[in-house]
Amino acid sequence: MLEGFIRSHLRRILTKEKNIVLEQKIPLLERSFQDIDELGVYLHIPFCEQICPYCPYNKEIYDPDVARRYTHAVKREIDIYSDLIGNKPVTSFYIGGGTPTTMLYSGLEEILGYVFKSFNMRCDIHMESHPNHLSSDNLNTIVSMGIDHLSIGVESLQDRHLKTLNRPYSVKQVMEAVGRAVSKDFKCVNADMIFALPDQTLSEVEQAGQALVDMGLDQVAAYPLFLFPYTKMKNIIKENNYRMSGIFKRRKMLGILEGIFYGAGYRRTSVWAFTRPSVPKYCSVTVPLYVGLGASGSSYLKDVFYLNTFRVAEYINALEEGRMPIALSLDLSENLQMAGWLYWRIYETRFLKTDFRDRFGKDFNKIYGIHLKLLSLLGFLKDKEGQVVLSDKGTYWLHVLEDLFSLDYINKLWGCSKYDPWPAKVTF
Ligand SMILES: C[S@@+](CC[C@H](N)C(=O)[O-])C[C@H]1O[C@@H](n2cnc3c(N)ncnc32)[C@H](O)[C@@H]1O
Ligand code: SF4
Repeated sequence: MLEGFIRSHLRRILTKEKNIVLEQKIPLLERSFQDIDELGVYLHIPFCEQICPYCPYNKEIYDPDVARRYTHAVKREIDIYSDLIGNKPVTSFYIGGGTPTTMLYSGLEEILGYVFKSFNMRCDIHMESHPNHLSSDNLNTIVSMGIDHLSIGVESLQDRHLKTLNRPYSVKQVMEAVGRAVSKDFKCVNADMIFALPDQTLSEVEQAGQALVDMGLDQVAAYPLFLFPYTKMKNIIKENNYRMSGIFKRRKMLGILEGIFYGAGYRRTSVWAFTRPSVPKYCSVTVPLYVGLGASGSSYLKDVFYLNTFRVAEYINALEEGRMPIALSLDLSENLQMAGWLYWRIYETRFLKTDFRDRFGKDFNKIYGIHLKLLSLLGFLKDKEGQVVLSDKGTYWLHVLEDLFSLDYINKLWGCSKYDPWPAKVTF
């Protein structure tokens, strides 16, 4: 109740909008692409070999026949965007899921080839993977496909927590998979880990953080366990009477990880990610404007945000019938665009005020100067020579605030889209 009150007040202050409503309508895409100079591409692979009880992402159990039809559907969607994008450079490309490596040898190579044939690709490729798919042969295939940055869903380095998360491997097996990946020729190998797990102790967090550094990873993204109402995790915790860490204990756990990663020379590259010096960071689409391909792919094009249907069968049918798979869209007012811009810059923990002027033609201080001053007085950030850099304290607490919006957004938008492939509207 209090959360809802804070959320709606902050939203009104930052966006001047009472409600935000996504509607079932297809935006005028020709116009939206006209004044864009460069953009990013996100590709969603919505398949997994098993469903983890905590996971909010859009996915279904892998089936080779569906994967084949999905491959053709994604190629049809690429055709549509190839006409709209023309020769504009694509400067960021990310393949996420679900589990992209389920489609190794069953369509992924074909889709990548088609992306390179259809778009003016001017960037590296970043891709997520599952530890059980990282045999030496598969890793060689991944390298030969041109993947430069690989992320591995390690999740935990304690067998008892892997069991709670229902992950299908042991600590020994996942460490071997990481060892094989770091020995290959990637620019960056990232491990995703989850902390603040049910009943997890501070010393277990410390042990996991140190082990990840010792394995020679280029980057670690350490997320606290988020509980989404539409996943099974909440029930598992209730049934087993597990103790969960509150926001202060989570801060302490993150502080332990910060100490380990900074001590080993890593730098902070986002709220949750720490990267070795001189290694380019592994991250999702890095440019502000992007197109999302695949079931549940979302796109952001200056003044419009839209989202594909989540249901794989509906996505395939739409494209086979020559229809766009877009389910929901939202026209973005300038205030919403600016608030969205700020949200992502806070997530990245640093930004230049001139980037705001370049994007919106307005002085950052005129719009957000008072907020900045207040946060600076609280020790949440430093505002020096046009660059704003969040402190570790600010990074954590501002993100707790951001979660008021992002978790609500995911719960409502993804939760609703999961059950209804073509929702009439979703209101925030
Ligand atoms: C798409 S998955 C990674 C690739 C692959 N599917 C796998 O599971 O190995 C993305 C990552 O998000 C993180 N994640 C998923 N659900 C989460 C949750 N409820 N709380 C925190 N992190 C979560 C996990 O670290 C997971 O590795
Ligand atoms: S965590 Fe990864 S493997 Fe598990 S369900 Fe989510 S996307 Fe699939």
